[in-house]
Amino acid sequence: MMKFRLCNPTEIVFGSGQISALADLVRPGTRVLLLYGGGSIKRNGIYDKVKAALSACEVTEFGGIEVNPVYETIMKAAAVTRQKGIELILGVGGGSVVDAAKFLATVAPLQVDDPWDQLAGQGQVDTVLPVGAVLTLPATGSESNPVSVISHHGRRLKIPFAEQRARPRFAVLDPDTMASLDIRQLQNGVVDAFTHVIEQYLTLPINAPVQHGFSEVLMRTLVEWGPRLVERNDPEARETVMWAANQALNGLIGAGIPQDWSTHMIGHAITALYDIDHARTLSMVMPSLLRFRSEAKAGMLQRYAKFVWDIAEADPKRAGEEAIRRTEDFFRRMGCPVRLSDVAPIVIEADEIVSHLERAKQTTLEESQDIGLAEVQAILRIAA
Ligand code: NZQ
Ligand code: ZN
Repeated sequence: MMKFRLCNPTEIVFGSGQISALADLVRPGTRVLLLYGGGSIKRNGIYDKVKAALSACEVTEFGGIEVNPVYETIMKAAAVTRQKGIELILGVGGGSVVDAAKFLATVAPLQVDDPWDQLAGQGQVDTVLPVGAVLTLPATGSESNPVSVISHHGRRLKIPFAEQRARPRFAVLDPDTMASLDIRQLQNGVVDAFTHVIEQYLTLPINAPVQHGFSEVLMRTLVEWGPRLVERNDPEARETVMWAANQALNGLIGAGIPQDWSTHMIGHAITALYDIDHARTLSMVMPSLLRFRSEAKAGMLQRYAKFVWDIAEADPKRAGEEAIRRTEDFFRRMGCPVRLSDVAPIVIEADEIVSHLERAKQTTLEESQDIGLAEVQAILRIAA
């Protein structure tokens, strides 16, 4: 195992009806910024529950956070946050809103009009405001991790920022909130979470039986319960997938593991340039990336075949190929594209993707940093 430090301070408040727990989680009188997205929380009753639980607080609202949250909008929220002397930012929504809440908590105290370059260059900040989350869409794990993925419209860029102090202090995971999700978002959530596990598992072999075993449980759970969630959206499937998606990216399974986020970085570029849902960019790229890297990943592919897909094939190469085929099949069953051509008439240009990676300073990817721009071109050719 590689050396690691792990501290996840987010208090998870899980279960049906738990939005009311906000009344205990937030001290009366706190100046709260309630951050939300395009208005789904007003249509499905979540907004009313949050407002009722925060009745003893001084609440300012800021709505309109976009899917794939936009820097320029968050900077407007930062001005409101400063003006109102906000003490807690509460993101109520999916990964986009929660990411925006964490980024806002980092930029608002800076008192700078345009801190993008400072933060993209890993510049340190002195203060980060406290964040809380009410999650309404299980997918990203954002509710208890330090990452915000932010899009800069002006620069046509989408990149991740990590700030440990922005991890939410608490996250309410009430599976009832998932009742109003449409099938597309349910599919996206399952595929995104599954991909997060693969990127912390299907890398280089290392002695980490605890992390690997836990990853396998998460993947088997998503394979079994993901389709059920999409078909029935019943309470058992909601709570199972909500918890699995949280565990998939809260730091635990990736601790001490060489990680490979290249599918995500290529996927972020596709979303920035072609406005395709996050999870659907991942399903388009990952099977081809695994084929391209099948030799380097042979050890873990063999384990993946056996413990996730119950493949009995003795030949390691054939077992690995079969496991990739089943992965692709699973993504298809979840209604997601597995080739770039599956999103026609959109035409995804490899040169554009490479140029995004260059502008994002993501020119070496992979667990061993040996995927460069030429390799990305090759992966996209396989994915065509
Ligand atoms: O905008 P609202 O009204 O909230 O509607 C949203 C949005 O239209 C809707 N929705 C959310 N909860 C709902 C609901 N509709 C009905 N009922 C509910 N209960 O669903 C749509 C998609 O929401 P969004 O938050 O964009 O989805 P998701 O959770 O998949 O988040 C995607 C974003 O997270 C980033 C992605 O890049 C993308 O920007 N990621 C963040 C990560 C992290 N912080 O660690 C890791 C991920 O890999 C990912 O990159
Ligand atoms: Zn993701």
